[in-house]
Amino acid sequence: KGDSGLSEINLMKNKVSALEGQLRALQASFTKYQKVATFPGGRIVGNKVFVTSGYEGNFDDLKQRCLQAGGQLASPRNAAENAAVQQIAVLYKKSVFLGITDIQTEGRFKYQNGEAIVYSNWAPGEPNNDKGSENCVEVYTNGKWNDKSCGEKRLIVCEF
Ligand code: IPD
Ligand code: CA
Repeated sequence: KGDSGLSEINLMKNKVSALEGQLRALQASFTKYQKVATFPGGRIVGNKVFVTSGYEGNFDDLKQRCLQAGGQLASPRNAAENAAVQQIAVLYKKSVFLGITDIQTEGRFKYQNGEAIVYSNWAPGEPNNDKGSENCVEVYTNGKWNDKSCGEKRLIVCEF
């Protein structure tokens, strides 16, 4: 009884060290694929990954493409996330459309899930609903936000 107990403990020890080895390998492989996924137009902030394909299109087009890929349009909820989107804009020298609009109610900007925004980084004087027709939000390469017509073409950045 005592001996079989000891050999069971040794079997368990072998299994644990085998699992430790597999975990190390998995961690190394995950780190490598994080580099792949973020080269060159990707940024990781916490559990969120922001990535562009370099594609430019209007808001509906970009929104569909992010959904199709299993993500959604970039929706920065704090300064660190906004900085990540800004870095991608700088890399491509293009403004980016966010997953934020006031289509439903003028002046009330919301995420695509209908939640009111918890963070913003408007440029001075924005949002101004220029010509009464600006319901989408672009991020300039300086990181500041401007409301803009959803029909304009901007750089895609999805979040996953
Ligand atoms: C406009 C201006 C304005 C901003 C509008 C833009 P445009 O650009 O930058 O400050 O609020 O969203 O459309 O029409 O003068 O090239
Ligand atoms: Ca504007």
